[in-house]
Amino acid sequence: MSFAPLDTSASLPLADTEIASLRQRLHNARHLLVLTGAGASAESGVPTFRDAQTGYWAQFSPEEMASEAGFLAHPQRVWDWYQYRRDLVRQVMPNAGHVALAQWQARHSGRMTLVTQNVDGLHQRAGSTPVLCLHGNLMDNRWLLPPKPCCDVRFTEGDAPPQCPGCGNYLRPAVVWFGEALPHAELQQAQDAAKACDLMLVIGTSGHVYPAAGLAHIAARGGAHVVVINPEPTALDSVADRCWRLPSAQILPALLA
Ligand code: OAD
Repeated sequence: MSFAPLDTSASLPLADTEIASLRQRLHNARHLLVLTGAGASAESGVPTFRDAQTGYWAQFSPEEMASEAGFLAHPQRVWDWYQYRRDLVRQVMPNAGHVALAQWQARHSGRMTLVTQNVDGLHQRAGSTPVLCLHGNLMDNRWLLPPKPCCDVRFTEGDAPPQCPGCGNYLRPAVVWFGEALPHAELQQAQDAAKACDLMLVIGTSGHVYPAAGLAHIAARGGAHVVVINPEPTALDSVADRCWRLPSAQILPALLA
């Protein structure tokens, strides 16, 4: 059952009893699964993807900027966009939501599985460990094609994007693009945690991208209590037991203190 939409004003309209009741559930939980999306980094100053005005996909098409075909069609354009995002992420800091999650995870060793669709590394910079990164890491590169003996990241030529001087293979960002498989081990661990958890927090994701969004369905099917934390309605509200329409950096410190 979902709660009726809450007031979205910035003044934390949530009743104390509502927070206390979820804190009690958290206290009693055997295992907590947390899934985060771009909204978890919004208050750090990182744009989301689907915001109608400021989202990346309001300005760029995912096919052009987040697919292998788009990269091959315009390698420099795509590379430059990732370099821009890397520069931006270097300038921002983890927010109070990232920190609250990291501190809870450290205080309750082994009781939380943290899964993120974000590639910005802000959970890790807040101190979270381990973090299951389903969509890769923005700061890392990998070879576009399986590397040959001549492909050595220490010896590349050009920088937009760098290429192997021997065979022309490109370096590309080590993120998951549309049409590509998620890292098998991370996805498997996330799905196992979804089956095993009794509480799941779904934070800052529109819930439109699978298989990440499927974790909430798996958790709900297994009887876990599912909570969506997001100022806007999401595609996962229908599987949630509670929807808290709040920005995550505002509510997570109070919930996870
Ligand atoms: P989206 O841009 O689809 O959704 C971001 C969500 O964050 C929206 O539902 C917002 O309402 C919510 N939001 C905004 N500010 C928030 C805040 N302060 N606190 C909590 N929530 C807030 O981003 P994702 O769901 O992460 O994939 O997108 C999933 C994947 O689609 C991304 O990993 C990316 C994208 O295309 C690839 O690039 C492969």
